[in-house]
Amino acid sequence: MRAWTVLGIETSCDETAAAVVRGAGSGPGEILSNIIFSQLEEHRPYGGVVPEIAARAHVEMLDGIVERALAEAGLNLGAVDAVAATAGPGLIGGVMVGLLTAKALALAAGKPLIAVNHLEAHGLSARLSEGLEFPFLLLLVSGGHCQLLGVEGVGRFRLYGTTIDDAAGEAFDKVAKLLGLDYPGGPHIEALAREGNPKRYKLPRPLLGREGADFSFSGLKTAVRQVTLDGAVQAADLAASFQAAVIDILRDRTRAAMAMFVRDFPQTPSPAFVMAGGVAANGAIRFAMGALASAQGFAMKVPPPALCTDNAAMIAWAGIERAGLGLFDPLSAPARARWPLEFR
Ligand code: KG4
Ligand code: ZN
Repeated sequence: MRAWTVLGIETSCDETAAAVVRGAGSGPGEILSNIIFSQLEEHRPYGGVVPEIAARAHVEMLDGIVERALAEAGLNLGAVDAVAATAGPGLIGGVMVGLLTAKALALAAGKPLIAVNHLEAHGLSARLSEGLEFPFLLLLVSGGHCQLLGVEGVGRFRLYGTTIDDAAGEAFDKVAKLLGLDYPGGPHIEALAREGNPKRYKLPRPLLGREGADFSFSGLKTAVRQVTLDGAVQAADLAASFQAAVIDILRDRTRAAMAMFVRDFPQTPSPAFVMAGGVAANGAIRFAMGALASAQGFAMKVPPPALCTDNAAMIAWAGIERAGLGLFDPLSAPARARWPLEFR
């Protein structure tokens, strides 16, 4: 199978990122460079990502980031085989900046363009870092998404469960705000929870034990808000109690999806369980899900934290996977604010 060297660009939220990755097939890939500029400081005063500020910062930073990615890889644009960029879903201004830049580079260098779905890129990231055959069970947990999927191939997903309200990362971010912590809240909650007592506060675990594998986090978030309204809180204990509830929910729903996966793919002897997306960077969640996976006969594969949160290496890798299948896009490919994965 032919190896591809792809320049990837990611601008769908508050990270401006470019990377060069080389690889083929089921991976792992070789990350030649992986440059990321986090706009955190720009957004910090507002307690969240401001789309206008994000789009402008992408415009200002992206050219230099692409140059650095190529320089660190020791390549010029002529030496890459294709240019891939996130085409959605995400904040539309930022997505347009990245996709337009990719189109201009592709046109100027005479290279094919690949318009990448950001969710698919998270979903394939474990093939980049670990090397992995299809099919596998995927828990995609990010700021905007919380889904359990059977992944049969590029663009071939089965939906086992999805959140009926908030995403897991969104719950982390909202609870962090309630506790006066900075955005994004996940890493701050994780750090605080290490010093707290997870049994101090009794919090609900919505949908636990229910049929199916759907998630719900909004009742949990509301319960945390109620605790903060009831009087002085011990923040570390509340963070630990919240994180323990999230872990119980993820564990219960994933166990249900594992049974569905085994039923659908009985011929997969030692199935892989993959976690991807920003929340998969959480050490306590990784530990708990690893224990669940081994108890259920699954081999857990999780990309290193830097490849779980938004990055351009996973976009380049998704480009490699699509290029390998001849799936290129015209220069008219649209930027999409919404672009759900398609299910079979
Ligand atoms: O995948 P990602 O970087 O961006 C999206 O595509 O959404 O995910 C960002 C989300 C944020 O909600 C952030 O709070 C959460 O991932 N996150 C974490 C951790 N690191 C990032 N949540 C829990 N624990 C972490 N260590
Ligand atoms: Zn993401």
